[in-house]
Amino acid sequence: MVVELAKNVYWVGVVDWALDHFHGHELSTHRGSTYNSYLIKDEKTVLIDTVWDPFTDEFVERLKELVDPADIDIVVANHSEVDHSGALPEIMRLAPNATVAVSPKGMDSFPGHYHKDWNFKVVKTGDSINIGSRNLVFIEAPMLHWPDSMFTYLKEDAILFPNDAFGQHFATTYRFNDQVDQKELYEEALKYYANILTPYSPMVSKKIDEIIAMGVPVNMIAPSHGVIWRDNPMQIVELYKEWASQKPSKKAVILYDTMWNATRKMADAINGGLGEGGVSSRVFHIPTSDRNDVITEIFKAGAVVVGSSTINNGVLPTIAPILEDLKGLKFRNKVTGAFGSYGWSGESVPKIKKHLESCGFDVVGEGVSVKWQPAAEDLDTCRAFGRQIADELSNRLS
Ligand code: FEO
Repeated sequence: MVVELAKNVYWVGVVDWALDHFHGHELSTHRGSTYNSYLIKDEKTVLIDTVWDPFTDEFVERLKELVDPADIDIVVANHSEVDHSGALPEIMRLAPNATVAVSPKGMDSFPGHYHKDWNFKVVKTGDSINIGSRNLVFIEAPMLHWPDSMFTYLKEDAILFPNDAFGQHFATTYRFNDQVDQKELYEEALKYYANILTPYSPMVSKKIDEIIAMGVPVNMIAPSHGVIWRDNPMQIVELYKEWASQKPSKKAVILYDTMWNATRKMADAINGGLGEGGVSSRVFHIPTSDRNDVITEIFKAGAVVVGSSTINNGVLPTIAPILEDLKGLKFRNKVTGAFGSYGWSGESVPKIKKHLESCGFDVVGEGVSVKWQPAAEDLDTCRAFGRQIADELSNRLS
């Protein structure tokens, strides 16, 4: 169903309740998603972004409730990833003379995706297009989250269309932030930031400062996924500012895998020590945990402790990917530690420690290695290690 944001400005996207993973299987989406597209009717008819191509027919039918798609004059293509550009070829088949406004980097990605000789218009930060009684103003937003990403600002209605930024993978009945469960909305906005935007946090901070310095009013923030921020729209900008700072909190995450429970017992004891030191933990057995939920908890935590048994002179194959995530997502400000059990050789702990150092984290001590099953004194050592990590974290926060 079409939804009006302001006079002659409409949401014309689709709601994907069934989506359980995004980017192939890279990102879990427990609450589905939406692909938001917006239509502006003025002297010019403007479409801002499209939808993922499997939903093209539904999208075109929705557009037809408002316009003949052949009458579209301008498509603003804020970002080329296919969840927003997948229906663009069909729109351009229906409206072949439409102008496609893209960022400078979009002139790489859009032709690269579609290999069509469309009527592209490159727009840079500060450029504007008059559409009759209103103006579209463009702001390049490289690495929020692709080099080609840009924001579009509908000046007279003070609506910001920031594409992926400020979005959530959150399928809902209603389209606005004040109409949905606030706890669910917060969880999805945070998961989205933690899993997609964390590595670009310095760019997020810079872009937010730039937008605030522009001093323009913002009545609404209409992202390309999830609900539209109309009630106190700047709340999500403030949250992004806070999240981009990656301030540590007094929480820990313990990640582990185990072969015969020795490393699991160590994880439990380290959790006990952290608790004695006043730090609550989430303990994740990695093979049975959702990777993206784990990443969200790591994002929130001030301490991360990683454990693995030793196998084949290294870590368990289930642990290697989360170590790569710790590096690739460029988490900052974490106190970390390593632990694990072994039988004949004990490489897992030094390998985890070395990896954590290579991520730029402070690593507490040498970690704890236990040969065979932990004895009572080994578990005491693990508890002491947990307390040591808690103390280190507390010192940082004081
Ligand atoms: Fe970067 Fe929603 O795609």
